[in-house]
Amino acid sequence: MELREALSYDDVLLAPSYSEVLPSDVDLRTVLVRDIELNLPILSSAMDTVTEDRMAIALALSGGAGVIHRNLSPEIQAQQVSKVKRFLNWIIDNPVTVNIGATLAETRRTMDETGVTGLPVLDAGKVVGIITIRDLRFNENPEMLVDDVMTRDLVVETSIPTEKAALAKFDKHRIEKLPLVDVGGRLTGLITVRDMEKHRDYPSAALDSSGSLIVGAAIGPRDWPARLPGLIASGLDFAVLDTAHGASLNVLKSLEKIRKKFGNLSIVGGNVADGDGARRMIEAGADAVKVGVGPGSICTTRVVTGVGVPQFTAVADAVEVCDAMRVPLIADGGVKYSGDIAKAIGAGASAVMIGNLFAGLKDAPGQEVIFEGRIFKSYRGMGSIGAIESGGIDRYQIGEGEEAVPEGVEGRVPYRGEVAPYLHQLATGVRKAMGYTGCASVEQLREYRRFIKISTTGLRESHVHDVSVIQDAPNYSRL
Ligand code: XMP
Repeated sequence: MELREALSYDDVLLAPSYSEVLPSDVDLRTVLVRDIELNLPILSSAMDTVTEDRMAIALALSGGAGVIHRNLSPEIQAQQVSKVKRFLNWIIDNPVTVNIGATLAETRRTMDETGVTGLPVLDAGKVVGIITIRDLRFNENPEMLVDDVMTRDLVVETSIPTEKAALAKFDKHRIEKLPLVDVGGRLTGLITVRDMEKHRDYPSAALDSSGSLIVGAAIGPRDWPARLPGLIASGLDFAVLDTAHGASLNVLKSLEKIRKKFGNLSIVGGNVADGDGARRMIEAGADAVKVGVGPGSICTTRVVTGVGVPQFTAVADAVEVCDAMRVPLIADGGVKYSGDIAKAIGAGASAVMIGNLFAGLKDAPGQEVIFEGRIFKSYRGMGSIGAIESGGIDRYQIGEGEEAVPEGVEGRVPYRGEVAPYLHQLATGVRKAMGYTGCASVEQLREYRRFIKISTTGLRESHVHDVSVIQDAPNYSRL
């Protein structure tokens, strides 16, 4: 018989060390997958009560990234990815435009449909003017043409300016949009004041090389052919093959097919819970491996099936293989406090994925509900009856029309307010851990791997004890 011992986050503590590192000076950047870098080692779960476009935007603005769930039609999921990608730009590659000769009614329709309120005006591809919503405001006659009201005196750029140069132009000419043109005067891009302001407001945002927010989306072993073309066309940064058992033949075969068809796509494969599972995923084509079988707060996989690996050991085992094969590991599920993030990274993870702690945030999907005078938001497993009924049959291998045997529950979590201040609490907890351990970067913490195994009395001592709490802390509660 094989009988291994395994530990969860609660069984261990990071050992403190001599340190010259100040929490405020540490570097929280991490490599998520291939060349995608985050400024905060945190992802939000691909769950229908956790991540849609709003959560993905809020998280990426603070340096992390969201993974849009797949209990959505392929079209809506792709639209949500596109909304995240269009939220912030440095240079808009494909600006919305109108052609000379269009009526004001047509122009307004384009503005309403796209939400873009300033459009370059083109004549056979050449920029000849710009029209904004302000030009329409005092021109009520819808039959009038764009040519009658557009601004013709244009300031344009013929090469890509530095941020400083672009700002200087906006300031000098009192303009809000700067079209980029080639030598023939044809439009090649657009820079807007609004985007530049947003960049200044969010200095830690997780950005791709063209200045848009980073976003991921979940795909399944069966639905990926329907999802990936639209997701990629919308600018998806990374796909997450979202399964409960990544080391199973059908999942690995799907992964091989996806890898073959979309060679350049960054793929996170999961979930596995040991080194063998990680190796199989990487050999089948995963660029990063997601680890976690049953640690999630809403998961019942371990009690329904009797199968799983306590999360700390799962990460520690899988990371041996991931490190040897130079592939990042993402620790998925079971994070209850910021200290668990530090422990996951201290054991070798490059990032963590979080569901529960984010489901109560304002930008999570779902309504706030008041119960016994307190505000809550709903949170459910993707293997719960409710999630299965609204489309999640695939992750837990339930056949169409079969009666569901759930591997998760539906519940509620306390309302936790805005994303940014909450992430500040989590990130600062990790920063402090790095101060205590003398690690100046995520990479150093990842290599730290010095832990102390504690007893139940040690855990009791770690938590608040022998006192009645009279003021809740924003980063600590005991449910
Ligand atoms: P937390 O602990 O943050 O974990 O709530 C979120 C992770 O749990 C996984 N997940 C599930 N696992 N049954 C499971 O066994 C489920 O119904 C279920 N739904 C989500 C998932 O990996 C998520 O990121």
